[in-house]
Amino acid sequence: MNARKTLKINQLGHLEIGGADTVELAKQFGTPLYVMDEQYIRDMCRAYSDAIRSDYNGNGLVLYASKAFSCMAVYKIVQSEGCGVDVVSGGELYTALKAGFPAAKMCLHGNNKLQGELELAAESGVGLVVVDSYTELDRLDALCAEKGRKQEILLRINPGVEAHTHRFIQTAKTDSKFGFSIADGTAEKITAYALAKKNLFLKGYHCHIGSQIFEKQSFALAAEKMLAFMADMRGKLGFTATVLNLGGGYGIWYAEGDAKQSIADYTAYLRAVIAAVKENAKNYSLPEPYLLIEPGRSIVGEAGITLYTVGAIKEIPSVKKYVAVDGGMFDNPRYALYQAKYTAILANRADEKPTERVSIAGKCCESGDIVCADVELPAAKEGDVLAVLSTGAYNYSMASNYNRNAVPPVVLVKDGKADYIVKPQTYEDIVRNDVIPERLR
Ligand SMILES: Cc1ncc(COP(=O)(O)O)c(C=O)c1O
Repeated sequence: MNARKTLKINQLGHLEIGGADTVELAKQFGTPLYVMDEQYIRDMCRAYSDAIRSDYNGNGLVLYASKAFSCMAVYKIVQSEGCGVDVVSGGELYTALKAGFPAAKMCLHGNNKLQGELELAAESGVGLVVVDSYTELDRLDALCAEKGRKQEILLRINPGVEAHTHRFIQTAKTDSKFGFSIADGTAEKITAYALAKKNLFLKGYHCHIGSQIFEKQSFALAAEKMLAFMADMRGKLGFTATVLNLGGGYGIWYAEGDAKQSIADYTAYLRAVIAAVKENAKNYSLPEPYLLIEPGRSIVGEAGITLYTVGAIKEIPSVKKYVAVDGGMFDNPRYALYQAKYTAILANRADEKPTERVSIAGKCCESGDIVCADVELPAAKEGDVLAVLSTGAYNYSMASNYNRNAVPPVVLVKDGKADYIVKPQTYEDIVRNDVIPERLR
C-alpha cells in the first residue's frame, strides 16, 4: 500500500481509494478504469508549494509536469492549488488553455517544438518557453518579431549530472537529445546566441536530471552545477540569470524495494534543493534566482490506481501462471517499455493473504503485453476486480488505441464521491477520424 493512506481496506475486505469502494467503482463505471484521488494530488501540490513558501520566501513556483497526466480537470486542480504547469506539446498546451489555465503560468518544453506549437504559445501568451535548439531560437525570435511581442525564455542546460533510480553519476559528456552541455562549452555558446536575439528575453536556465530519483544529493548537485554555470555566465558574458528551473524527477513507491515516501519526505527533498540553491547563490554572490520545479510523477503517480476485471487464467505447469485482465499495454505500456514494476491487489478480496506468484497479462496481441510481472496474489478467479497501484503517472498519458482497444475512462474521487474526468471512449470514437476514399467504396 502507498504510504499516504489514500488506500484502505474496508470492512467488506474491499480496497478503498479516497473513501470510495473500488468494487463499487468497478460496478458503476466498468473496467478497465483509471481512478485518481483528488486529495492526494492537492496534498502533493501543497507540500511542494509550502516548502517554497517556508524556506525560500515564496520566491518560486511549482510547475506541475502535466506530461505525467494531462486532462482538463487536472489543470483545474493544480490551478486552484496556485501551481503553474509544464506543457510539452501543442496538445497539452491546448488542453490547459481549454481548462482556462492562465498561459502566463505555463512553461513550454520540447526538444523539437513545431512551428504550430510555437505559434500557439506566442498567441496565447505562454509565460516561459524553454528553448532547446538554435533553430528554435531563430524561429521563435522571428515569430515574436512578426507578432510584435517579446517572449521570456529559459535555455535547457545539461549540467552533467545523470541520475538513475538509485544512484547518480557525474558525466563530462552527454549523449542526451535534451539540453546543451556545460562541460563542452555548448551551453555558453547558446547563451551568447540567445542574448543577441532582439525579441527574446533570456531569463535563465532549466535542467532536468532524470526521473524516479530518490537521492536528494543528485538534485543538490545539479543545483550546485547550475549556479556555478550562472556565475560563469555572469563573469564571461555579463549575464545574470534571474530564473532557475530545476525540473522534476522525484521518485514514488511502485513496489517492494521502492522507498515509501511521506509528505514530509517530499518536503525534505525540496528543502535540500532550496538549501543548495541558497548556499551556492551566496558562495557565488549571485542573487537568489526565482526557483521553478517541475514534479509530475510525484504529484499524480500514487494518486492513481487502475481497476481491471480478471478474465482468462492460464497455468503453464512448472513455468508460470498468467492472470489476464481486460486492459493491457493500451492503458499501461510501462512494462512493455521498460519492465516497470507494480503492485497488484485483488480489490474485492483485499484482506486475503497472497498465496501464489503470477504475471498479470493484458489482452493485446503481443507476448510483451504484460501489466505487471511476478506479483504475489491470492488465487485469482474470473470476475475478480484487480487493482494495480501507483498508475496515476505516465499511464493514461501514454495510453493508445492499440488493437483498437478503447482508452479507459478516468474517474476522480474525493470523500467517497466519484466523477468522470475523462469519459469512456466508444467504438464510434475509435473510427471517428477514419476515412474511406471514394475509390475504395
Ligand atoms: C523537462 C521535464 N520536467 C519535468 C519532468 C517530470 O518528471 P517527473 O514526472 O519524474 O517528476 C520531466 C519528465 O520527463 C521532464 O522531462
